[in-house]
Amino acid sequence: MGLRKNMNFLNNYKGKKVLITGHTGFKGAWLTQILLDLGADVAGYALEPYHERGLYNELRLSEKCRSIIADIRDQEELEKCIVEFQPDFIFHLAAQSLVLTSYQDPIETYGVNVMGTVHLLNSVRKLNQRCSVVVITTDKVYKNKEWEYPYRENDPLGGYDPYSSSKACCEIAMTSFRDSFFNFNEIANHKKYISSARAGNVIGGGDFSDNRLIPDLVKSLEANETLILRSPKAVRPWQHVLEPLFFYLKLAVLQLSDPSKYCGEYNIGPENDDILTVEELVQIAIEVFGKGHYECTGEQLVHEATTLKLDISKSKKMLNWSPLYNSREAIQKTMSWYESKDKIKTTRSQIEEFIREF
Ligand SMILES: NC(=O)c1ccc[n+]([C@@H]2O[C@H](COP(=O)([O-])OP(=O)(O)OC[C@H]3O[C@@H](n4cnc5c(N)ncnc54)[C@H](O)[C@@H]3O)[C@@H](O)[C@H]2O)c1
Repeated sequence: MGLRKNMNFLNNYKGKKVLITGHTGFKGAWLTQILLDLGADVAGYALEPYHERGLYNELRLSEKCRSIIADIRDQEELEKCIVEFQPDFIFHLAAQSLVLTSYQDPIETYGVNVMGTVHLLNSVRKLNQRCSVVVITTDKVYKNKEWEYPYRENDPLGGYDPYSSSKACCEIAMTSFRDSFFNFNEIANHKKYISSARAGNVIGGGDFSDNRLIPDLVKSLEANETLILRSPKAVRPWQHVLEPLFFYLKLAVLQLSDPSKYCGEYNIGPENDDILTVEELVQIAIEVFGKGHYECTGEQLVHEATTLKLDISKSKKMLNWSPLYNSREAIQKTMSWYESKDKIKTTRSQIEEFIREF
């Protein structure tokens, strides 16, 4: 693949061993395909895919990478996987990722998100070789004050619902591991480079999760039903799934070059003049798709933040990064994926297009 200068960092993945936890999920499957296309040797560690029609199955990834189907809380199995595979890079995406589910099963949510991360980082301690790790959390880690200001990386962590709170705990655990076991001052001995990335809500093809906006819209379009919106005025930093994924890839390479400069926490989201409400996003998606209806009659089932904005200045400055697609383009790419007949071809051409245009 010919790369433009600012995508040169992708050359670092050719022939490298990359472990992705959560590779059977929405973001993990996209990341697996990107890394396979870059010539990496990819292993995945996750549970069976939740949805028959999800991206992992569509792309037939079980045939293309080393796939370990196991629980992230199974310390023995996880450690065995990491020690045997000897990854150069780890992207930790495995999580109970839904807010509504976190209200229904808080124990599972904290167990997977917090202890899963602790198990992962503890297994990394058993690696002798150099390894770059990116822990994927979320924009929801901040103590949400329902104000207009975008959150910065040094704002207090919090989280009202168990999902958000568990991801904030995951950040605290990661920082403790970095200070205690992977300290910058001893990097020549342990050779471990660790950061976290806090992305906003992502959209893209191949997501069939329950209680997420685009999958719910696609399911309603297929069934010719009206989509019921529960929080039409809620504001979220939406972006195309490829934006945070390429950011994670860049961060993992840069932190190897200068850990004291790059290892840290980063927000990833759209520009602040490109933030949409739930209703605006659905309106554009319906317009792009050419059909569909919605009603704003649903009652909010659980407490969810109304306003959530991210300040992405640090990521822009430190990683010389900015979003490629505006929200309308992100919605267009997403809806055209769902409409397309050949999902493998569409996925790979959307990846290639992103790399070409970045
Ligand atoms: N999708 C979004 O809008 C969004 C936004 C911000 C952050 N994130 C974060 O990005 C990551 C990936 O999100 P996603 O949308 O792909 O989620 P997803 O729900 O589609 O995938 C979750 C993955 O984690 C794995 N997993 C869950 N429980 C596990 C367990 N006990 N053991 C092993 N694996 C387990 C699943 O098998 C799956 O592969 C998550 O950490 C999520 O919190 C997602």
